[in-house]
Amino acid sequence: DKGNHRHFMEKEIYEQPEVVSHTLSHYIDFAEGRVKLDAAQIDFANLDRLAMSACGTAFYAGLVGKYWFERYARLPVEIDVASEFRYREMPLPGKMAALFITQSGETADTLASLRYCKDNALTIGAIVNVRESTIARESDAVFPTLAGPEIGVASTKAFTCQLSVLAALAMIAGRARGTLTLEDETGMVQALVEAPRLFNDVLKSVQPQIETLSRELSRFKDVLYLGRGTSFPLALEGALKLKEISYIHAEGYAAGELKHGPIALIDENMPVIVIAPHDRHFEKTVSNMQEVAARGGQIILITDEKGAAATTLETMSTIVLPVVDDIVAPLLYALPVQLIAYHTAVFMGTDVDQPRNLAKSVTVE
Ligand code: M6R
Repeated sequence: DKGNHRHFMEKEIYEQPEVVSHTLSHYIDFAEGRVKLDAAQIDFANLDRLAMSACGTAFYAGLVGKYWFERYARLPVEIDVASEFRYREMPLPGKMAALFITQSGETADTLASLRYCKDNALTIGAIVNVRESTIARESDAVFPTLAGPEIGVASTKAFTCQLSVLAALAMIAGRARGTLTLEDETGMVQALVEAPRLFNDVLKSVQPQIETLSRELSRFKDVLYLGRGTSFPLALEGALKLKEISYIHAEGYAAGELKHGPIALIDENMPVIVIAPHDRHFEKTVSNMQEVAARGGQIILITDEKGAAATTLETMSTIVLPVVDDIVAPLLYALPVQLIAYHTAVFMGTDVDQPRNLAKSVTVE
């Protein structure tokens, strides 16, 4: 049942405040203001390395998770798409655990990667939405996302719930490894607790602007997404979402890679969507935007109030979000990214919930 929504995808986008809150409460003790140490059945304190693998949107969630585990838990992460991971013959030395991320829990390549790690005697954790799935059954530790059934082929609420679990696990690992101070932990928990209410506000406030923008975007054949740090996986996710449902060609790049190739494509016919909260990478990303502007590229900037105040560059559109903690940013920035893809596809008249050539669950290689 789509409720008042035109598509399941739209309904699922709007469910995010609720399902993210629900998922977070599984890993965070809101009353105490701390992560639940016993929510992780992985001995993070004694690991040298974590291997992660997934496909598609779940892989991009994992990429964000890599930044978090490395920054907050000082735990090196090895991550790859499952179709490569399973054949890499990667050495899996002693103190290593593996973490797989999957909405369906049935993705063939992810399952094969899991079995490879299992054969090598690694402890297996899985962030899964479908509790009865094969991947959930074959894992030592199951970290549920409480997103509820996701019907739209384009993953939305599963992604932000995966990010929620990864944020909590990185903090749990940081606490277990003694790399996260109590002050940082309580500050981040507070930020996460407040996030769902902000999501509601943002979903309401950006909608009219994104509808107008999407009408314009639907005229283009190519779109480039740029981001740095945890906004880089968001750029990849934005490009995937747009191509999946609108069939507009889109690429996601690390902003710093612009000069190493994609800048050759920049002209007035390829809008550039820049994902840039006012974090420690902001200045660098602004200089990439200047490079785009100098070549006649049209910029769509997704930033926060500080970022909007700090740049004078002319843009096609600037989407302004509230200032949030670094741990909340990828979750918050996912919302406009999803809405841009959704509304563009609606203007193009595509089958949003059942895009051509795609299946919800990829159970063959
Ligand atoms: O069920 P999974 O999370 O394992 O699925 C992984 C990908 O197939 C999935 O995220 C796919 O990329 C989506 N269509 C993205 O919107």
